[in-house]
Amino acid sequence: MQIHLLIASLLIAGSSGAWAASNEPIQPIPQVKVANPALAELGKKLFFDPRLSKSGFISCNSCHNLSMGGTDNLKTSVGHNWNEGPINSPTVLNSSMNLAQFWDGRAKDLQEQAGGPIANPGEMASNHALAVEVLQSIPAYVAEFKKVFGNDKVTIEEVTKAIAAFEETLVTPNSRFDKWLKGDKKALTAQELAGYNLFKDSGCTACHNGPAVGGNSYQKMGVVEPYKASSPAEGRVAVTGQDADRFNFKVPTLRNVEMTYPYFHDGAANTLKEAVDTMGRVQLGKKFSDDENAKVVAFLKTLTGDQPDFKLPILPPSSDSTPRSEPFAKK
Ligand code: HEC
Ligand code: HEC
Repeated sequence: MQIHLLIASLLIAGSSGAWAASNEPIQPIPQVKVANPALAELGKKLFFDPRLSKSGFISCNSCHNLSMGGTDNLKTSVGHNWNEGPINSPTVLNSSMNLAQFWDGRAKDLQEQAGGPIANPGEMASNHALAVEVLQSIPAYVAEFKKVFGNDKVTIEEVTKAIAAFEETLVTPNSRFDKWLKGDKKALTAQELAGYNLFKDSGCTACHNGPAVGGNSYQKMGVVEPYKASSPAEGRVAVTGQDADRFNFKVPTLRNVEMTYPYFHDGAANTLKEAVDTMGRVQLGKKFSDDENAKVVAFLKTLTGDQPDFKLPILPPSSDSTPRSEPFAKK
């Protein structure tokens, strides 16, 4: 009898705990299950391989540095021939949770996205045929592609599929905020919790919600007050052609935001203090006091999760027939 009562009260406590957490606008990031480890391992090599660029110098990791929150921490990215990119590089961490890829959502998923930078003249400046030719000339890659895909010919679809599979492993669970969501009430300080309540009560969660605290909708930058961007990008209108989508951008994830500075699509905000101040003003018509701003920033810093932890891949050497790179080729 007593045991039954105990179990019943445990069940109630357990379910009410779960109910409380599911009532929050933000959910914890689930631990990733790697469906095909050999595919992801190949994708990891490709992510780090600068031979996918024309210069032989730029890899995905150059602009999405996994030692720096999956970004380059630059205002806008530097590409081929020191090309100054037009837009800030978003993090690849948790990017599998995005409703689509790029600030304007022009790639439907990670596989479609991965083909873009290889052939973008301002980024890696190669082309798909050349990238495949390079890989096909490296015996250890040919063997690994064969092991994973079962054919002798490397294709760009296989390249982008492998990179996407690796990117799907780049999730960051176990942040202090997630621990709090899961019931560890000591995981946050009073200051951080006050920041979370301000974040919710001010309306930030209207756009920054779900497990990635963003990434799941397009929203206008400058709802209440126009935002003067230092980049020519116009957002989602470039994809839909609809005037209503002008200056709509994919809401960025705020996971690991402490590491992914500078902020906004034009990289104009150097600090979280500045980004929070701008968001309050232009999105919500709210001016945070210094104390409130510090609380929201303290909360945002609790969103840093476990960073990807893996062995640095060793890339197979080129063969005598591998096309040689051209670091100083004209644009
Ligand atoms: C020269 C720097 C540079 C290189 C190299 C580069 N990227 Fe990017 N990446 C960017 C920039 C800048 C954007 C944003 C572009 C935009 O939205 O218009 C971006 C966007 C992305 C996104 C979308 C993220 C989101 O939240 O929308 C993913 C995923 C990504 N890159 C993965 C890769 C992969 C994989 C490679 C290698 C094949 C790569 N990138 C190479 C700079 C780079
Ligand atoms: C109406 C939707 C909306 C609301 C409300 C909103 N945001 Fe945003 N947030 C966005 C969009 C869209 C961007 C990207 C804008 C851009 O880069 O031009 C963004 C960007 C950010 C960034 C920069 C992230 C990065 O990686 O560049 C931070 C930090 C941020 N928001 C915090 C907040 C906070 C704090 C609040 C509440 C005070 C808030 N946001 C309210 C839509 C919103």
